[in-house]
Amino acid sequence: MELRITLLPGDGIGTEVTEQAVAVLEAVCHNFHHSLKTATGLFGGVAIRATGDPLPPESLTLAKSAGAVLMGATGHPDFDTWPPEKRPEKGLLRLRKELAVFANLRPAICFQALESFSPLRSDIVQGTDMIIVRELTGGLYYGTPRGIKRNGEASVVNTMAYTQTEIERIARVAFNLARTRRKLVTSVDKSNVLENGQLWREVVTNLGAKEFPDVKLEHQLVDSCAMLLVTNPRRFDVLVMENMFGDILSDEASVLAGSIGMLPSASLGEHTGLYEPVHGSAPDIAGKGIANPLGAILSAAMMLRHSFGLEAEAHAVEDAVKKAIDSGIRTRDLKGTASTSEVGQAVVTALTDREPDLQRAAQRSAHG
Ligand code: IPM
Ligand code: MG
Repeated sequence: MELRITLLPGDGIGTEVTEQAVAVLEAVCHNFHHSLKTATGLFGGVAIRATGDPLPPESLTLAKSAGAVLMGATGHPDFDTWPPEKRPEKGLLRLRKELAVFANLRPAICFQALESFSPLRSDIVQGTDMIIVRELTGGLYYGTPRGIKRNGEASVVNTMAYTQTEIERIARVAFNLARTRRKLVTSVDKSNVLENGQLWREVVTNLGAKEFPDVKLEHQLVDSCAMLLVTNPRRFDVLVMENMFGDILSDEASVLAGSIGMLPSASLGEHTGLYEPVHGSAPDIAGKGIANPLGAILSAAMMLRHSFGLEAEAHAVEDAVKKAIDSGIRTRDLKGTASTSEVGQAVVTALTDREPDLQRAAQRSAHG
């Protein structure tokens, strides 16, 4: 099979981690006799500097024409004082909308070897394995009217809008995923205050009863869900929610796993899928070669599964990541001393089943 991928490494550590994800993709393609064709586009702050636009038309065309898009990270402190309309993040929001990737999948899994890195006690966090399904192209992020009015007393408005169709299609993704897992969907809303939540709850309930009677559905208010995520994370299987709620709760869920650097994401729609690690551009450590590449590598695994239907290949990558972690190779976020490329190489080594090499590499980068 030919895998045509567009790379948008973007800002900060995006370049470093994407490079390692590509190295792992090359290794897995070699092992399974696929061919990998990549094209790279400018994106984010670097694209603003080069062209004035965080998502230049050439990059968008490259993204739309690929089998899948692998993104690194976007954002830079230089743009912090710029208005939202002009910032690098706007490029990401436009890319999501243009690719129509309405379903954002953010797994939060606590690897056994990393339990002690979680801010939660091991007895609470161990066995955590959930996936947040975040609606990505609607809700508060995109609703109109929006904007600040400055004539007279300043005022501001944002709008949280959803249609039944939008709620149904994201809920369907969650129910279908749950069928492949522990068959529990937690739908998150704020129905005790917002009409938006009332309709959300009604539509999800009706869809569940009609199309997914075999999946258990429960509802949680977003505030108490935030609490349950840290008091009893193990109870969750698949969670589904509005865009902004998903933005907030997925950051909360991400730290459970020990480091945000570990977490992948997939954004899916009808056509080209978009894959990106959950972490940001981390300007404080950019260019130092110490960023954790595992979130990007696991995003590449999700790409193999969801965009190319290559389950065995995806599993091989995830298994190699687990082996690399178990061998003790860690970047600084996990109190290790290994570099970004050493961790990437450890995954490649584990993929090719060279256990003794992996052990040697682990000894070289002895962790603290
Ligand atoms: C995320 C990020 C983005 C978002 C930003 C960078 C626009 O926080 O992917 O969660 O808010 O969606
Ligand atoms: Mg976020």
